Amino acid sequence: MKVPFTWKPTGWFMIGWSEEYRPGAVKPLKYFGRDLVAWRGESGEMHVLDAHCPHLGAHMGHRGKVNGECIECPYHGWGFGPDGINKYIPYEDRPNVTKHLRAFVVNEMHEAIYVWHDPQGDPPRWDLPNVFEAWPEQGGGPDDYYRAYPEMSVKYEGEPVHPQIPLENAPDSMHFKYVHDATVTPVLLDYGTDGPTFRGTVGWPNPKDPDSGEMALKIHTLQNGVGNTLNVFEGSTPYRLIFCVTPVDDEKSDMFYSIWWPRGTDTAKVAPESTRTRVERQFLRTLADDLEIWRYQIYVENPALAQIDAKPYGALRKWARQFYEVPPEN
Ligand code: FES
Ligand SMILES: [Fe+2]
Repeated sequence: MKVPFTWKPTGWFMIGWSEEYRPGAVKPLKYFGRDLVAWRGESGEMHVLDAHCPHLGAHMGHRGKVNGECIECPYHGWGFGPDGINKYIPYEDRPNVTKHLRAFVVNEMHEAIYVWHDPQGDPPRWDLPNVFEAWPEQGGGPDDYYRAYPEMSVKYEGEPVHPQIPLENAPDSMHFKYVHDATVTPVLLDYGTDGPTFRGTVGWPNPKDPDSGEMALKIHTLQNGVGNTLNVFEGSTPYRLIFCVTPVDDEKSDMFYSIWWPRGTDTAKVAPESTRTRVERQFLRTLADDLEIWRYQIYVENPALAQIDAKPYGALRKWARQFYEVPPEN
């Protein structure tokens, strides 16, 4: 997909779920066009570094080992700390600190793991928002929900979709009718920007009386940068979700989608089969519908907008520019 902006945007990006990493686990990753190694140190903390060892270039995500908080290179056993600095060479008295690996700031929150990405390697400029705290008026903490992973989560890998595309889907209330077979047409009730945050609320008119202005359901969206969407649903079931899009390279992205469903008086952490089936059918599957559009879409720089779209699209596009700090590659 050709877009007029970089695939190396600034912001918080999801790289996986906590459960995928037991202490001592090591994984090779590829995001933002970089080979990365991710591991969970023996303390339980997650770490992410550029993957290629400064000694002779081995990829430490393949057969690398965890030693304390260090990642140990599989080739000659050099150990690197979470700061990307060599801590030991097993056959020498002193480490070699002449070259550092880029270290990524990691934030693990509610079953998900995020890294801060900045094309220059600068530290985070804003905090990662919390899906259970972003709408205090909606109440309910993480203990009031079934776990999201793995039952209520889905991942799509290597999709030819730039994060800007799903982002622009956020204020698009009309597509629900056409893509998701909605029987009523949702309305964009309000939206606004605040620094790295874009907030919006979409309402679903009461199907019994769609013209009354009464909403049966409201979806509140918080867009944090271009790759991290949070939602809470205000209605009979106040579920929450995250939808994250992380560029792999200059052509494709991985997508992560997790839903927290209220468990009411149930004390189990894992949702029962009936709830899982319902969430899968009604919600997780909606992403597959969107993808059928996004995969084949082109990015239109000067779109022919309907009147209803013009203002929110304009606002969103203008707001999103702040995350594209480097020119596009092609
Ligand atoms: S290549 Fe990593 S220790 Fe030699
Ligand atoms: Fe959609």
